[in-house]
Amino acid sequence: MSGSRIVALGHYQPPKVLTNDDLAALVDTTDEWIRSRVGIRTRHIAEGESLVDLATEAAQKALARSGRTADEIDLVVVATCTAIERSPNTAAAVAARLGVRSPAAYDINTVCSGFSYALATADHAIRAGAARRALVIGAERMSDTLDWTDRSTCVIFGDGAGAAVVEAQEEGAEPGIGPVVWGSEPERGDAVVITGWDPVISQQGQAVFRWATTQLAPLARQACERAGIDPSELKGFVPHQANLRIIDAIAKKLGAPDAVVARDVVDSGNTSAASIPLAFSKLVERGELSPGDPVLLFGFGGGLAYAGQVVRCP
Ligand code: UT7
Repeated sequence: MSGSRIVALGHYQPPKVLTNDDLAALVDTTDEWIRSRVGIRTRHIAEGESLVDLATEAAQKALARSGRTADEIDLVVVATCTAIERSPNTAAAVAARLGVRSPAAYDINTVCSGFSYALATADHAIRAGAARRALVIGAERMSDTLDWTDRSTCVIFGDGAGAAVVEAQEEGAEPGIGPVVWGSEPERGDAVVITGWDPVISQQGQAVFRWATTQLAPLARQACERAGIDPSELKGFVPHQANLRIIDAIAKKLGAPDAVVARDVVDSGNTSAASIPLAFSKLVERGELSPGDPVLLFGFGGGLAYAGQVVRCP
């Protein structure tokens, strides 16, 4: 099989915006601390909108931009670590809302690297002939996991969703989704924890920061190598939006001087599995990337899992 490509992207963020000053009224923090340590200025918080609402909005936009209809989709994959409902899963609930008939529909949870994992499994399903056209969604209501008295976490996360329509390539065409580089350090899984029935997120921030800034750049370069691309040829780099200092450190080591680097964390905070499709969709919408541009996606975080691949911009 010739593989698959992303034909359209879409994103959605709930309208309520929390500024750093809003948070300084809740916990002992400052705009200066948050901007200098994490790079965030604002984040969006869902009120009265469920995870399925966020995911459906983003998917609807991607579908509309693709020019395809819901009944042409045969696979729905949702990456999320904040699904409260176990059954139906988020993917099935979104499919029902959109009117996708009889799709394969499943959720993936690899926390912040989830979208790149989901994209890889959709690409693999298409290559194997098990699907032809997929909706791949990253969606999170991180606010459900926040302790609004804990300044070390409540200033960092936000809610949102991003989605991609992925379809089979013409026979012989160059693959639009490159080979995935993925893995994890399961023995360090307790570095990011969301557990229990009323889950609250906690993380060993410095340990994750060190891992991200020292271990991930070679893996990101490996994803380029497997796609047959030198990092210097990249036109875009969309890493997980955890911290501006992490993004800039990996981008510097990657060596991609011509790549537009996604820095949506500034406006949106850390939206876990939603951060990559959200940031990617915004870059395309603003015309900062053009059709066919090679773009490296690279997710990382809880698990400690990572996944990345080079894709062609829709
Ligand atoms: O997306 C999932 C994967 N997660 C990540 O990639 C996160 C990676 N880690 C990070 O981004 C950073 O470690 C954080 C942003 C989480 C924290 O930044 P940091 O520079 O590592 O701060 P720290 O945890 O070392 O804390 C330094 C100080 C502490 O005070 P003392 O002990 O030095 O007096 C904290 O209590 O900053 C304090 N602090 C705050 N101060 C003001 C922690 N949170 C805040 C806050 N406002 N919101």
